[in-house]
Formats: sequence, structure tokens, C-alpha cells
Amino acid sequence: MDTIKELKAGFVSRRAEDTEAVGEALARELAPDVTLALSGQLGTGKTTFVRGLARGWGIRKAVTSPTFNLYTIYDGSRRLIHFDAYRLNTSGQADDLLIEDFLRSPYCLAVEWPEKVADWLPSPRLNLFFSIVGESEHAIQLRE
Ligand SMILES: Nc1ncnc2c1ncn2[C@@H]1O[C@H](COP(=O)(O)OP(=O)(O)OP(=O)(O)O)[C@@H](O)[C@H]1O
Ligand SMILES: [Mg+2]
Repeated sequence: MDTIKELKAGFVSRRAEDTEAVGEALARELAPDVTLALSGQLGTGKTTFVRGLARGWGIRKAVTSPTFNLYTIYDGSRRLIHFDAYRLNTSGQADDLLIEDFLRSPYCLAVEWPEKVADWLPSPRLNLFFSIVGESEHAIQLRE
């Protein structure tokens, strides 16, 4: 299984479970200490994908949208920091959240609405683009 290659080619998910499964598969292949920039309109599957990542690292806690807290930290075989920047207006506001202080190796920082904090996003980084392409078909494309 080469999930990274599959995502680079553009993966088409036909149901939420498939999006979760590909997130879980990526979790197994992903190098430690990376930022995943998850771009895409509302409801395209970013949080669903993060749910899969969490499962891949043995995180049992339910992953929900961190809209109120802006970010949530989950500890499993890897630390997952799920950050939803939707309600931020500037990259400067991300600095105030002190997320860097929680990037304890091995970690993955998964960011929804990364465009909002483009100047702030830590490296190294993988960029994933989510879109709706059909009835319940959601596409996920990886661009490094
Ligand atoms: N193939 C699919 N992949 C992902 N989600 C799907 C798919 N088909 C249907 N869905 C549904 O689409 C919704 C995706 O919601 P999700 O919260 O993951 O989106 P999001 O990109 O995080 O949105 P937001 O920007 O509002 O946070 C869920 O209700 C999910 O069940
Ligand atoms: Mg979301």
C-alpha cells in the first residue's frame, strides 16, 4: 500500500468511511513531525480525514471539530494536534495560541483552513486538497 502515491494521483472517496480509511492508512506511512495543511470548502471531509489519522495512531477519543477551542490535542502512538483556523482572521492570531509549545515529537499538526494562517504554518508540510466531485464522491489530492 502506497497511500502517499495514491493521494498524489488524486484519491476519490465514495463515502465518509473511505475518507477515514485513507486517513488511517496515511497515518501509518507519514514521517513524524509534519504539518498537514487540509484545504477545502465546508463539508468536504477534512475533519472526517483527521478522524482516520487519529485511528491510525490508536487514539480512542472521538475527534470532533475544534471550533470552540480552535485546536484539540490527542495523544496516541503519535501526538495529533487538530487545529481549525476557520475563525481566525490573521496569521498573527495563530501565534497567540502557542501551538508550537505543544509540538512534542513524534507529532502531526493537522490544520483545517490553512490559508488563514499561511504565514504561520510550521514546516515540513504536506498539502491536501479536499473537494466534492459527485453525489457523495469527495476527492483528496496531495501536493507537496
Ligand atoms: N466521500 C466522503 N468523504 C468525506 N465525507 C463525506 C463523504 N461523503 C459524504 N460525506 C459527509 O460529508 C461531511 C464532511 O464533513 P466534515 O466535517 O468532515 O467536513 P470539513 O471539511 O471538516 O468541514 P468544515 O470546513 O465545516 O470543518 C460529513 O457529514 C460526511 O459524512
Ligand atoms: Mg472540519
